[in-house]
Amino acid sequence: MLVGCSGDRSILDPAGQAAREVAWLWWGMLAFSTVVLVVITALWLYAFRGGRRVARSSRDEQRIARRWIIGGGLLLPGLSIVLLLAFGVPVGQRMLPLPLPDGQQVERIEVTGHQWWWEVRYPDAEGGEVVTSNQLMMPVGEPVDFHVTGADVIHAFWIPRLGGKIDMIPGRTNVIRLEADASGVFGAQCAEFCGAQHTNMQLHVEAMPRDDFNAWLAERQAPPEQSDDHQAARDTFVEHCASCHRVAGVSDGQQGPDLSDIGDRVSLGAGRLAMEEGAIAHWLRHHQQLKPGNRMPSHDHLDAETLDALGAWLETLSP
Ligand code: CUA
Repeated sequence: MLVGCSGDRSILDPAGQAAREVAWLWWGMLAFSTVVLVVITALWLYAFRGGRRVARSSRDEQRIARRWIIGGGLLLPGLSIVLLLAFGVPVGQRMLPLPLPDGQQVERIEVTGHQWWWEVRYPDAEGGEVVTSNQLMMPVGEPVDFHVTGADVIHAFWIPRLGGKIDMIPGRTNVIRLEADASGVFGAQCAEFCGAQHTNMQLHVEAMPRDDFNAWLAERQAPPEQSDDHQAARDTFVEHCASCHRVAGVSDGQQGPDLSDIGDRVSLGAGRLAMEEGAIAHWLRHHQQLKPGNRMPSHDHLDAETLDALGAWLETLSP
């Protein structure tokens, strides 16, 4: 049970103001419910304790029963809910994208949930929009507004160490404001069951100082460099993959994840597979076994050599 108290997905190890308030609320609820449990258990044991019976008129019995129903059945739960709202509503309020008092601009990051991957966009990046997939970089020590939506079914955006989760609903944009106190890597996970591969819908979140974040965005302004060594693989890609995947300077497919910086990522298949040498070729050959039902058709009609070359080229794609 104690495993939940730490790790990169623990709400009990907050790394931002919103998450800290959620954690306090959680501890408060745990304490309160423990008191209720102890009192009810004590009363229950007391009721079973043999002892002398007091003779009461049925009128008195009714009066006492009514007192328990009103006190324990109406007042106690009513008071608990009011208390919970009194502490809970302000916590939620502070995650709303309200205007900041000093008119400060808030970084905007757009996140779209797909079956089963994450599309991440930086529309306000200097020099033009930046797009990436299954990884999210954010500046540290300043509020960030996450504008989230779903492309197909309902998903939910959740970075447990930074704050509460929010639904990603097709046709609607929800906004949540979160802030990271310190640089670091945070785990994030789709938090709404969205189909067979819901578990394998993980997001790598990295918070970094503002200068590093700007440099990260600037790196992505130019398309990845291409060498002649991989011409054959590029041709394969254009023939078989380009209608679904974008690689800046090569293709503009919008169905699947943008692959312009895939060589720079930490995982494949939204957390399914660690990124290492040969991992992309392995993924291309076995992705339907690794992540059954994912939307990419299998590539059984392409021979192993072609897939290896394709994987080797994709690994070079790095800003
Ligand atoms: Cu997406 Cu669960």
